[in-house]
Amino acid sequence: MAQQVKGVVALAKKKPVTLETIIVPDPGPGEAVVKVQACGVCHTDLHYREGAINDDFPFLLGHEAAGIVESVGPGVSNVRAGDFVVLNWRAVCGNCRSCLRGRPWYCFSTFNATQKMTLLDGRPLSPALGIGAFAEKTLVAAGQCTPVDKAARPEAAGLLGCGVMAGFGAATYTGGVSRGDTIAVFGCGGVGDAAIAAAKLAGARTIIAVDLDTRKLKWAKEFGATHVVNAAKVDPVEAIRKLTGGHGADLCIEAVGHPAVLEQAFFARDLAGTVVQVGVPNPHMRMPDLPMIEFFGRGGALKSSWYGDCLPSRDFPMLIDLYLQGRFDLDRFVSETIALDEIESAFHKMEQGKVLRSVVTIDKPGKGAKTKAATARVTTAARAATAKVKG
Ligand SMILES: NC(=O)c1ccc[n+]([C@@H]2O[C@H](COP(=O)([O-])OP(=O)(O)OC[C@H]3O[C@@H](n4cnc5c(N)ncnc54)[C@H](O)[C@@H]3O)[C@@H](O)[C@H]2O)c1
Ligand SMILES: [Zn+2]
Ligand SMILES: [Zn+2]
Repeated sequence: MAQQVKGVVALAKKKPVTLETIIVPDPGPGEAVVKVQACGVCHTDLHYREGAINDDFPFLLGHEAAGIVESVGPGVSNVRAGDFVVLNWRAVCGNCRSCLRGRPWYCFSTFNATQKMTLLDGRPLSPALGIGAFAEKTLVAAGQCTPVDKAARPEAAGLLGCGVMAGFGAATYTGGVSRGDTIAVFGCGGVGDAAIAAAKLAGARTIIAVDLDTRKLKWAKEFGATHVVNAAKVDPVEAIRKLTGGHGADLCIEAVGHPAVLEQAFFARDLAGTVVQVGVPNPHMRMPDLPMIEFFGRGGALKSSWYGDCLPSRDFPMLIDLYLQGRFDLDRFVSETIALDEIESAFHKMEQGKVLRSVVTIDKPGKGAKTKAATARVTTAARAATAKVKG
């Protein structure tokens, strides 16, 4: 029988999100219902609320989650009730032209649940990245559930579901960072710091963290940055050149989502170096206006990275193993745990740079009667900060 649960919904563009009762259908063929245990707040959730992804409101937000499979529909064989899983937004199809060429991490036809979750009035919800896990339960395609070692804390494990995986993979797979490389990471949020941690794990010799916020730079050092550059105070291109013998970095990762930062990353690169764009631009942003000869003359590669070119079935269990062995510190990304009705204030803290990741833990008691008041409006200052980032 369909269930009614609480979920965090963005009803309209730029409006504070609200806690709503949502209807989760029983899983149909190829689907699973997951009891969410924890879900991180990613900047992409805020992009959805701002209307910067698309206009398919109402959105059921949340997509960096871990939980327990409650039930599965007919024909599901990859998971069963009781499995501890991290949810992914790349349930590969196995049949598209990319999968058939043996490149499933680019799958062009990934699966989501076929049935819709709805509001009580029947309006269908658009789950963020096909997941929608700021909810007590969510309906996904079974392939979106990746079983991992139960010993991992859900708050930490869930972060692999998006930002941490995207940053790790942007450096590792899209950027191909390896031993001896120099790398600069622009934007040290959850995504950027995961790229830094990946570079450390790969043996990069120089890892330069760039941000506008001193607190973020301090945290970046804890993830493995060998040098930090405050782009609010100095020209990051000059600073990176100085730190790399005048040459620039082998790999520059843009983890902000802004044309001015992409331009910095482009010029902070050594000859034949690579720029990876993992930050998400809004639909109005334009590519930087660069002389074409600079692109040609410098060689190398400009690449965008969706989800770090990861393959969840390969990467999630591997990264959880590294985490459990103490080699990949997922716990360090968890700045705080919050209740479902505290997402707006978590957005606010994210914009102010106070947190790396706020993580909703579903069994944490909510603020109840205070919910409406606590759906903090984004302050003028925070909006200005967003405008700065979004151009
Ligand atoms: N490509 C993908 O698959 C993917 C997946 C997840 C997230 N993302 C995107 O990655 C980006 C980062 O996500 P996050 O969750 O880490 O966000 P975040 O808000 O936690 O971090 C962004 C960081 O960028 C810094 N910043 C802002 N402007 C800057 C500038 N001009 N120069 C240097 N640093 C600057 C901020 O201070 C902050 O520390 C977002 O755009 C998000 O949507 C992409
Ligand atoms: Zn495919
Ligand atoms: Zn995300």
